[in-house]
Amino acid sequence: MTIERVFVAGAGLMGHGIGQVHAAAGKRVVLYEPDHARATAGRDRIAGSLARSVAKGRLDQSAAEAILERISTADDPAAVADADLIVEAVFEDPAVKTALFATLDRLAPPAAIFASNTSSISIDRLAAAVAEDRRSRFVGMHFFSPVPVMPLVELIRGSATSEATEAAIRADADALGKQVIVSADRPGFIVNRILMPFLAEAIRALEEGIGTADDIDTGARIGLNHPMGPLELADFIGLDVCLNVMRVLYEGLGDERFRPPALLESLVADGHLGQKTGRGFHTYPR
Ligand code: 3HC
Repeated sequence: MTIERVFVAGAGLMGHGIGQVHAAAGKRVVLYEPDHARATAGRDRIAGSLARSVAKGRLDQSAAEAILERISTADDPAAVADADLIVEAVFEDPAVKTALFATLDRLAPPAAIFASNTSSISIDRLAAAVAEDRRSRFVGMHFFSPVPVMPLVELIRGSATSEATEAAIRADADALGKQVIVSADRPGFIVNRILMPFLAEAIRALEEGIGTADDIDTGARIGLNHPMGPLELADFIGLDVCLNVMRVLYEGLGDERFRPPALLESLVADGHLGQKTGRGFHTYPR
């Protein structure tokens, strides 16, 4: 199956990026949010990102306009009716995702592929929200932030995912210029299984007063050649997102290595979610 029309559910940090890269690859994109203003804000963020590329001379003005023209917004889930691929990128909560999948399953064409950008929730658990005959076309398609820059897609096969679905997702990722890795349907998949203990250990080092946030980050940046230090990266991903993923890992694997650090719990409880709220382990001028 060739994927030409993509319905992206969720126009937040990941969703708008997923829409942007599909439109840049020539696909028609619907950015869906039940709240119309949020869908429009997602499209505006894409327009801003394209304008920066034009200003840097990386993209022609006419190409940027053509990309943006391929992206429409919707606040009605019925807009999924002609989609080839649905990529779900809503809040990392199984109840929110399964309710959405159940609705879209009733409205989407029978041949449409359902992909979740979940960063940690079991694909089989999410696939249970759609009718049994859809489950062979249900798959995990995990992107990395910032989506236009990070050239990786983690493909997660559920127990019912077919070879044809895997092939279609591989072809789609290829069209986006993303390399695919395949993960088993285990908590955190491959990348977050590796990343989250690293971030948690950096947070515990801060809690224990081993070093300042700046020194911990500088250690990883200069000593390990990482583009961002772990505390800076946690702020960038969103501390609420990190906490959710750590909880899924801890509950799913039952190992102390994955226990969310108390400092992370308290920052999230106080509404300090990192870059998006202006404060996390570091502060960010708004
Ligand atoms: N959208 C589009 N392009 C962007 C961008 C964005 N949000 N942010 C940066 N870029 C582009 C810039 O335009 C620039 O392009 P150019 O070189 O052609 O001009 C290029 O990326 C580099 O950006 P900058 O020079 O502004 O800044 P840096 O060199 O510091 O790079 C970074 C920024 C790419 C974010 C880099 O710091 C980085 O790679 N950080 C680590 C990111 C990471 O690890 N992501 C994965 C998070 S885990 C995840 O997403 C999974 C989830 O489940 C938790």
